[in-house]
Amino acid sequence: MDIKLLEKYNTPVPRYTSYPPANYFDDKFSADDYLEGVKQSNDWEPKPVSIYFHIPFCRKMCLYCGCNSCPLPDMQTVKDYFDALNTELKMVSGLIDRKRKVSQVHFGGGTPNSVPSVYLVRLMDLLHRNFSFNTSPEIAIECNPAWLDIPYVRQLIKSGFNRFSFGIQDFSEKVLNGVNRDPSLMPVKELVSFLRSENPSVKINLDFIYGLPGQTAAGFSETIKKAVDIKPDRLVTFSYAHVPWVNKAQKTLEERGMPANDEKASMYRKASALLIDNGYKAIGLDHFVLEKDELYQALQSGALHRNFQGYCTRATTGQVYAFGVSAISQLQRVYSQNTKSPLEYINSVARGSLPVRKGYILNDAEIIIREVITELMCNKRLSWVDMANRFGTGVNAIKETVGYNERILKQFQKDGIIDLTDDSVSITGEGSLFVRNVAASFDPLMDAATKKFSRSF
Ligand SMILES: C[S@@+](CC[C@H](N)C(=O)[O-])C[C@H]1O[C@@H](n2cnc3c(N)ncnc32)[C@H](O)[C@@H]1O
Ligand code: SF4
Repeated sequence: MDIKLLEKYNTPVPRYTSYPPANYFDDKFSADDYLEGVKQSNDWEPKPVSIYFHIPFCRKMCLYCGCNSCPLPDMQTVKDYFDALNTELKMVSGLIDRKRKVSQVHFGGGTPNSVPSVYLVRLMDLLHRNFSFNTSPEIAIECNPAWLDIPYVRQLIKSGFNRFSFGIQDFSEKVLNGVNRDPSLMPVKELVSFLRSENPSVKINLDFIYGLPGQTAAGFSETIKKAVDIKPDRLVTFSYAHVPWVNKAQKTLEERGMPANDEKASMYRKASALLIDNGYKAIGLDHFVLEKDELYQALQSGALHRNFQGYCTRATTGQVYAFGVSAISQLQRVYSQNTKSPLEYINSVARGSLPVRKGYILNDAEIIIREVITELMCNKRLSWVDMANRFGTGVNAIKETVGYNERILKQFQKDGIIDLTDDSVSITGEGSLFVRNVAASFDPLMDAATKKFSRSF
């Protein structure tokens, strides 16, 4: 990998988990705007319903954390929080057309398994009473394996959970110690075998981070080899996002010494080579999946898609209705984000008002820009003719909307990041690391960017 290229393009750019990025959401967006969006969403595409619950609590705070998380409060506050989730769900679900089916449920955090499993089971029961599900819904949960034992996961399986994401980060206890994190309670291999024996169709994701203090390319390769031996269905290698202005605790990591850029690049390159050698296929920048995985099939047919919960396929994704602190609903034309404070959330719901903090109503141009950026981020290739057909307009209109700039694209081409034809832009293998930079070149908001983003690598 060319280190000069790395330095040139290692600039602050959005992660594009949404367009516009969440830091453009507007305080003036109100609960009434969200309610109106929910009512209208019944007439918008896609028709399936995706449900997201955010459980912010963690039993121990990792120093690197970039998620919306907070220490586990007393049990009364946990109970109040789950009562509020139940109420918020009832407030919104009445407006959603009963004919629409739930295709995905996702419990994220924080650490959903930081609370007794009964809370999660009760929420699932409530969902089943309020919605009908399609024939094979995905019911996913993010778990910290430091707090997982057999009785707990057995409860989750019984309640219908069929995709488990375990945050591993690194198998080295020394690395974990350095970021204030405990290792898995059970050997991860045993935990995964148990889940697979309880339900052979259960799917397993493992999350890793590279770029933490104490990590080296050799050490991270050992971690990835251990992961390959477990054979998860999906594996994510997140580049550590250093955003101390969001999480002050990350400042401590600067003192502990983060790996240099070239070491970090080497971690990624070696991990990625190991995974590819062992039959995994790369999805986007940091996801690796087995060949039979539906995400790989979708990538092959150009039907890969993405929402705040991660990659999904065009066929199964729904509009996302999100519940809990900081949760972001993603409807076709509206984003709505809840307050980040658990107490404010609980009090607002108790007063009977939705805890909406900010949001965004997309105009027609932004819907086109979002489609172009998502296509590039997910499928690494876009055809202007396809885009024009998708929106029933001409190629020039699409290019004008995204501020198509031939000079900038030619520079990306010269640097080996993209292949360019009259009709298409494709990210090269070597260019994968810089897909966010290419996407940013189609983002008019970046021309006058006033927001802060993590660096691209
Ligand atoms: C909500 S956590 C997963 C569940 C659980 N809280 C845990 O840590 O195991 C989501 C994932 O985000 C990733 N993550 C958190 N902070 C990050 C950061 N600053 N940069 C990159 N990835 C990060 C970690 O890999 C983590 O597993
Ligand atoms: S990484 Fe997971 S367990 Fe650690 S603080 Fe963040 S959300 Fe909590």
